[in-house]
Amino acid sequence: MIRCDLITLFPDMVLPVLNQSILKRAQEKGMLEVRVRDLRGYTLDRHQVADDAPYGGGAGMVMKAEPLFRAVDALRREYQDSPAGTELRLLLPSPQGRPFTQRLAEDLRDERRRLVFLCGHYEGVDERVRLGLDPEEVSIGDYVLTGGELPALVMVDATARLIPGVLGDPESAQYDSFAESLLEYPHYTRPPEVRGLAVPEVLLSGNHEAIRIWRRKEALRSTYLKRPDLLKDELLNEEDKRLLDAIVREGATAHLSSGGGGGVGT
Ligand SMILES: C[S@@+](CC[C@H](N)C(=O)[O-])C[C@H]1O[C@@H](n2cnc3c(N)ncnc32)[C@H](O)[C@@H]1O
Repeated sequence: MIRCDLITLFPDMVLPVLNQSILKRAQEKGMLEVRVRDLRGYTLDRHQVADDAPYGGGAGMVMKAEPLFRAVDALRREYQDSPAGTELRLLLPSPQGRPFTQRLAEDLRDERRRLVFLCGHYEGVDERVRLGLDPEEVSIGDYVLTGGELPALVMVDATARLIPGVLGDPESAQYDSFAESLLEYPHYTRPPEVRGLAVPEVLLSGNHEAIRIWRRKEALRSTYLKRPDLLKDELLNEEDKRLLDAIVREGATAHLSSGGGGGVGT
């Protein structure tokens, strides 16, 4: 079971996503718990004000520090009777943070910690939240969103699908892109032909070993063509190297016109 708390000014932004599909089922099965906390509940005044104009002037509003401090204090009190070793892992979605990756998702899937997402909005949060609570700042990419709600959902989603049992087939996550520093092989489903495009014959052959090799080769090909930076010599076995040689001989470089560079990193 992974437990998360999402502290936000906009609960309605996140609840519909949490109440759909795999995330919903994971919660129903008791594998994931996500509590959405309305930040207004931790404000100090009658009007429940959680943001204010920036000192020094300038555009936009800044989220006040005290409500976030109070929300975290409340969570600490609530969780103080949890089993020994349980700690809150405070996460601050921020375009200035360390990049969120599959490795970080694997790391967040640590049952001893409760993940607490402090969702900023507007111009961001008062710097004293970062200074006083020392949260991990995490970015989901080099672009700026309106709030931390979508990044928090991205992180909850990527982490939840790694919990054993959340995906119907335990193998699903094993071959995903990035699971092994390779992109995943392509998928096909019925019918066998769509607008003149046929399913590769090997997938209809029933020959499991041939299918395994085809998938490995296509995973290597996708990585070689789309993300050559991920291909590291030391992560490739002898079979991978043979398959990669074949891909290069087949003229994969002909497809590289849309992206930069096609070399294999070492
Ligand atoms: C408009 S942004 C604030 C950007 C901030 N003024 C800056 O330039 O660094 C408001 C909030 O959205 C969230 N956010 C925006 N882009 C993000 C990203 N790429 N990754 C994670 N969180 C992001 C953060 O929680 C941030 O506090």
